[in-house]
Amino acid sequence: MSHRYKRSEEMLQRAERTIPLGSQTFSKSKTQYPYGVSPYFIQRAKGCRVWDVDGNEYIDFVNSLAAVTLGYNDPDVTAAVRAQLEEGVIFSLPHPIEMQVAEKIVEMVPCAEKVRFAKNGSDATAGAIRLARAHTGRDRVAVCGYHGWQDWYIGSTARNRGVPQVTRDLTHTFTYNDIESLHRLFKEWPDQIAAVILEPMNVTEPKNGFLEAVRELTHKNGALLVFDETITGFRFANGGAQEYFGVTPDLATFGKGLANGYPLSVVAGKAEIMRLMEEVFFSFTFGGETLSLAAAQATLHKLQTQPVVERLYAQGKKVLEGLRALVEKHQVSHLVAVAGNPVWSFFVINDAAPYSQWEIKTFYLQEMFARGILTLGTHNMSFSHDDHDIARLLAAYDEVLPLLKQVVEQQQLRERLHCRPLEPLFRVR
Ligand SMILES: Cc1ncc(COP(=O)(O)O)c(C=O)c1O
Repeated sequence: MSHRYKRSEEMLQRAERTIPLGSQTFSKSKTQYPYGVSPYFIQRAKGCRVWDVDGNEYIDFVNSLAAVTLGYNDPDVTAAVRAQLEEGVIFSLPHPIEMQVAEKIVEMVPCAEKVRFAKNGSDATAGAIRLARAHTGRDRVAVCGYHGWQDWYIGSTARNRGVPQVTRDLTHTFTYNDIESLHRLFKEWPDQIAAVILEPMNVTEPKNGFLEAVRELTHKNGALLVFDETITGFRFANGGAQEYFGVTPDLATFGKGLANGYPLSVVAGKAEIMRLMEEVFFSFTFGGETLSLAAAQATLHKLQTQPVVERLYAQGKKVLEGLRALVEKHQVSHLVAVAGNPVWSFFVINDAAPYSQWEIKTFYLQEMFARGILTLGTHNMSFSHDDHDIARLLAAYDEVLPLLKQVVEQQQLRERLHCRPLEPLFRVR
């Protein structure tokens, strides 16, 4: 048992007696936080600071898997939720706030003429796909990126246990920035693909008009284009990546940045398509839950009235530029790279014989957590990261990069790990 994470580890052992993996979210479990060098439970958070159950403080660059854009416990969001709580959480009929938040989204997001709410990103992507299938009368879908836990998508990954083969057979993957890979799918399944769904961007920028080409090819083949903006929405721009890149899809899904951590997701799109939602079954008890809608209203208001996205970019650029300079300073560009958009950037680790990227990543996490930085290899920026927080992050990298280089070059990595390395995980980005 490690001294620094003693209570976390005790709690994990207890939690695992009643909860498989001890967590509700794969990416918050020991599959991603190596056992022995990681915290497992957070007690409280404020801004970009979080405190684990052992009392260790961190600057959080995970931000609840990018769900938190303003910062934890944002005073305006908390006040809006408190006020709504007094009125009620859920009723036997919709509350007017559903319509008010829908109107706000229509105002902000280019493709949004009509809007439906849900809880998780996976609800929204599954709803968009069912809608696209109903609209086109076709069954197959083309996917690129991560789109959630539901059968229609996860069946296309290596984590496909429990998904029927008949469902898996309907989902086909194509490669980002490789328009030919999408061409091939349309050639192989002519007039059968209902939707092309992709994250408009994750690790790499779109090249050579990729997004425009995807839209053209998709429409030429009678399919619908769906942007999965679960992460990029309300982060790349107030109108999401579709506004940022100037490419408007038919439908889009949103999840994480919408309500600063409250469970709310959205399917939005052109009215003529969304109207079919009156017939498609997309309906759940908590779809109109008002605390999350109040949180969204306050979050969207803040996005519109304060320079939130500008600050995410400004601070994120300092991270990217600072980290690139450190990679150069420590001459580790053969081991690691920096990629992504400033508001959601990636620390990419390569294999370096005899070590796999997973072993190196485990060492990186061990050392970052020990220095009070919570990251899973991405920098999910929030409005509350100030210059001091960025300086702390870069100071940690300034210490960890030369260590990484040393343990790899001197082949001491396994001896210097205080835990078992992470198992290779399925990759979708
Ligand atoms: C791009 C994208 N789509 C869909 C999802 C699924 O969202 P959720 O986990 O809220 O169901 C995620 C979650 O990480 C995501 O990043």
